Amino acid sequence: MFRNLTIRKRIMAILAIVYVISLSLAVGGGYYVLRQDTIRESNEKTEIFSAAMSSSAAYLGSAIRPKVLEYLPETYFPEATVGIFMLTTIAKTVQDQYPEYIYRIASPNPLNPENLANEWEEQTIKKFETGEMESWRGFVERDGKEYYAVATPMSAGQNCIWCHDTPEVAHPKMVEQYGTRSGYGYTLGDVVGARIVYVPTDVALAQAKKKLAYFAGGFSLFFLLALIAVDRIIVSSVVRPIENIVAVAEDISRGKMDREFEVKSNDEIKALADAFKRMKVSLAKAMDILRK
Ligand code: HEC
Repeated sequence: MFRNLTIRKRIMAILAIVYVISLSLAVGGGYYVLRQDTIRESNEKTEIFSAAMSSSAAYLGSAIRPKVLEYLPETYFPEATVGIFMLTTIAKTVQDQYPEYIYRIASPNPLNPENLANEWEEQTIKKFETGEMESWRGFVERDGKEYYAVATPMSAGQNCIWCHDTPEVAHPKMVEQYGTRSGYGYTLGDVVGARIVYVPTDVALAQAKKKLAYFAGGFSLFFLLALIAVDRIIVSSVVRPIENIVAVAEDISRGKMDREFEVKSNDEIKALADAFKRMKVSLAKAMDILRK
């Protein structure tokens, strides 16, 4: 394929192929590593966010709710007794500062319509129900943005039923607030929803892409300089000396015996020039003998 090309073009073509292959490998590998980095970072963020939220709920459950129920057994005070109510409220406060971080307690059968699972959340909850998955983590799109999300199932325990059984059993104030449309009918052990933490990845991924673009630019510039340097070396140490030898040999073949093979370097081309020099001397001697 390269046979009909000049030495110079052949070397340039090989270097260009090396450039394309090494750039694709480096960019492909770099993208993989940076994406893994984004996943690790997003994972850490979701873990910290979830841990902070679960700890708040645990605190409510162990330190506040028992006292409230003890001191005010008849009062409906969800702010201090319903962990999920507290979590969804805290999540909104967190969102004031970090609007892109989303904490959801989603359910296909919610008391509060804001907690209604979207299509993807509902499918995930179904998979928790059928036992196909115990938890889910990965990339997911939400309102046209890419997020890294971690979802874990929530099942109804004994302590959940008194609010989520039937509107007749639930506290009248709660029924008054949320209505009787949905949010009831829990049975013990059922998966009733999922906790889902979404952290945005677009910023991290955009940064990763920017880093790769800089790298590709730097790499290309370096390769271009290397290409120019190699080209100069080939021209000055191979192409020109060979052209020179060809011109001298052609002159000598036409009888201009005063021409000399001159090579400044000390390499294969010099060996070639020396061989030609010896041939010229032999030729001159042969011609002398012939002339005598
Ligand atoms: C004291 C009553 C009460 C108890 C006990 C209770 N919940 Fe709820 N739950 C609520 C209220 C009120 C909401 C609506 C919160 C809001 O407005 O965001 C809710 C919301 C939820 C949601 C979000 C979807 C929706 O209905 O809006 C899930 C899922 C849920 N609860 C599951 C549970 C589970 C599981 C338990 C037991 C661990 C439990 N709940 C215990 C009252 C209760």
